Amino acid sequence: MDCKAVIFDLDGVLVFTDKYHYKAWKKLADRLDIDFTEEDNDRLRGVSRAESLEIILEKYHGEPISEDVKEKYLEEKNEIYREYLGTMTRNDVDSAVRDNLNLLRNAGLRLAVGSSSKNTAYILERTELTDAFDAVADGTQITRSKPDPEVFLKAAKLLGEDPDNCLVVEDADAGIEAAKAAGMHTAAIGAAARSEAAEYNLTGIEELPVIIGIAQ
Ligand code: BG6
Ligand code: MG
Repeated sequence: MDCKAVIFDLDGVLVFTDKYHYKAWKKLADRLDIDFTEEDNDRLRGVSRAESLEIILEKYHGEPISEDVKEKYLEEKNEIYREYLGTMTRNDVDSAVRDNLNLLRNAGLRLAVGSSSKNTAYILERTELTDAFDAVADGTQITRSKPDPEVFLKAAKLLGEDPDNCLVVEDADAGIEAAKAAGMHTAAIGAAARSEAAEYNLTGIEELPVIIGIAQ
């Protein structure tokens, strides 16, 4: 693989925010009498906030909800979610993540984040990861969420790298699909490593330097 840059998904790859997303959505779901399980939460991986709400509402059987009210729900969910994010510190990043980011960068690779989240900057700041990256492409810069390739193409553009020299690390099936659509190499980790969709399946981030060919 000719790899000059690595683009990391954020939630589920660099930090584990699933539990906060779940708790915040669960509050809303309970109020609307929607049965929302952790399996349902799994379907929200990589999906934008607004699309996540639509998935949750598949199990809603009450009166129709106007677009304005949906907008309010999205704001409420995000407020609760950000309260949880506010408790995060640099200790919420595994040392293996920090060490391997350093290792890749010291080997001359360019590093970026490619995330659907509009909270990306806040999460990177809370966990003191901002300086680990040369570029950040996130939910505030795109109009189409994964599985559309927009966020990864944006990251490659910010890095000034060709897509076929980029490797994407993802925990979401939608993210692997997006990276392939962008013409990039793919490494699945966590939930996405269960499927055969990616070029590489990782059991941990420490395998990255090996597949890139800078470590044995
Ligand atoms: C992705 C998460 O990274 O960001 C999704 O995997 C989430 O679950 C999406 O819905 C949008 O996040 P945010 O922070 O903009 O609500
Ligand atoms: Mg993810």
